[in-house]
Amino acid sequence: MTLQTIVEIPALDAFRLSLFSAGRKLAFVPTMGALHEGHVSLVRQAKQHADAVICSIFVNPSQFGPGEDFNRYPRTLTEDVAKLATAGCDAVFLPNVATMYPEKFQTWVRNEALENDLCGAARPGHFRGVLTVVLKLLNIVRPEFALFGKKDYQQWRLIEKMALDLNLPVRIIGGETVREPDGLAMSSRNRYLKPEERPVAAVISKGLRAAVEKYKSGERNPKALIELVAREISGHPAIKIEYLTIRDQLSLAEFPGVMTGPAVILVAARLGDLRLIDNMELDPSV
Ligand code: PAF
Repeated sequence: MTLQTIVEIPALDAFRLSLFSAGRKLAFVPTMGALHEGHVSLVRQAKQHADAVICSIFVNPSQFGPGEDFNRYPRTLTEDVAKLATAGCDAVFLPNVATMYPEKFQTWVRNEALENDLCGAARPGHFRGVLTVVLKLLNIVRPEFALFGKKDYQQWRLIEKMALDLNLPVRIIGGETVREPDGLAMSSRNRYLKPEERPVAAVISKGLRAAVEKYKSGERNPKALIELVAREISGHPAIKIEYLTIRDQLSLAEFPGVMTGPAVILVAARLGDLRLIDNMELDPSV
């Protein structure tokens, strides 16, 4: 099947109906484009779950704050479409802003408990924009499976929680973070790192990896692991840590004492003009 490009919702309805009437299952990978190997790996993973895979590319204005990089966000449609075709994606949905946010749009989805935590603290309104657009996309595409990268760990967990709380008929699946050879987590914004910043950015994953190793050797005190990562990163004054924390993998709550269950160590940091996020899971299977 060659990659089908779909812009309007009725064409998407026809695509979905032709699949469903043949009893075929659909998996969905929502993206904002500027695709990299992380997205491609989600498409490959999606193909293992379903008979057909659809991606969306939509740079969602409502998840960018006033001073953020909505206008500067990389837009590389021709390359993206070529990558999706090579990865064996069946269709790409390219809605425009008027389709997603028609005039007088006024209904929003929020997770009031977690929207101002972690990344939400530095990006007010971000998760309201993410949850709203993802719910809309899920309602439009109506897939059996939807895949999100674990690199955006809080986003993935909030989407999973939305699906649970709102009884969405979709299975949310997290895809492992894909890394550059030096360990840097792949991100559409990495292209904005200056050449001299690249090796510095890799220090974040080096610190996280050190924490994982220490965890594997039996350390269960979050403070000890956090200090280890902070030491690694603070050797590079160009990086300013925004948050560095260990949370419960599902609830994203802090541990009052030692870690008692599956955890994740999460970091956000500024390097030059860029905000970098990364995380690694800490559980007995890592
Ligand atoms: O992770 C992203 O690319 C976006 O936040 C998403 C999930 C596509 C919603 O716009």
